[in-house]
Amino acid sequence: MNPTIIQHAAQAIADARNVAILTGAGVSKESGVPTFRDAMEGLWAQYDPAQLATPQAFAQNPALVWQWYQWRRDRVAEAQPNPAHFALAQLQQLKPHTTLITQNVDDLHERAGSTDVIHLHGNIAANKCSRDCQGDPTPITDLPATDDDLPPPCPHCDAYARPDIVWFGEMLPPAAIQRAYDASENCDAMLVIGTSGLVTPAATLPLLATQSGATLIEVNPTASTLTAHVDYWLQAPAGEAMPILIQALQTKLGQHDA
Ligand code: OAD
Repeated sequence: MNPTIIQHAAQAIADARNVAILTGAGVSKESGVPTFRDAMEGLWAQYDPAQLATPQAFAQNPALVWQWYQWRRDRVAEAQPNPAHFALAQLQQLKPHTTLITQNVDDLHERAGSTDVIHLHGNIAANKCSRDCQGDPTPITDLPATDDDLPPPCPHCDAYARPDIVWFGEMLPPAAIQRAYDASENCDAMLVIGTSGLVTPAATLPLLATQSGATLIEVNPTASTLTAHVDYWLQAPAGEAMPILIQALQTKLGQHDA
């Protein structure tokens, strides 16, 4: 990685009052959690999302969809946070006005010590009623295991429980996306880590940030749809780049204090 780019990116974060971070599946790749679109090994390379991550797919074949999420839950449970997750938790400590927004549904940011994480696409560890019978989705964390492949019933009505995940075609949790818009509009620097930038509205957040005058820093070994818009591109895996960036930031913050 270009040391000059590291220094400039670290300086932009050090100088920023408000920092926003947007992460995608790439930040969890080095933890062994598959991304969606990486050729061949991405989740979508093996499955057709239209068959699995939609309300229609669940209505048509609840057992298949439920089992796929159980398999993904097992993969997340086996995974451990990687150096990128820990570096981001450290960044929140170093820069108190930092908002972490993720498209990921795993809990690796939280397990690495990050707090107040905004999950735009839900949380794979939680379930909710497939009929939304409580009005707004109430995560149903512990449900009885079922002896068949079918989802367990919602404890409040006779509908199936389903993963508390945003499926294709569904609305994002309004409070989460509003907080994400606010943080993107008001940040002075935004880090965009491990996302292809192919899914909106998440992919519009970095554009909102740069239009609001923020410095945009991308961490991704491969160019994304956002790369043309960023000020600094750290072309490396997040687990490698993030500890180096945080180290440079600490040095600069030390200089600030001196
Ligand atoms: P993608 O699979 O679309 O993109 C993963 C990105 O991570 C790619 O740009 C890779 O180059 C990059 N990447 C791979 N390894 C990396 C590493 N070690 N460090 C950093 N970056 C790495 O995943 P997302 O962009 O997160 O939404 O996908 C966005 C959304 O599409 C997901 O949240 C999901 C999916 O549909 C829903 O399910 C609603």
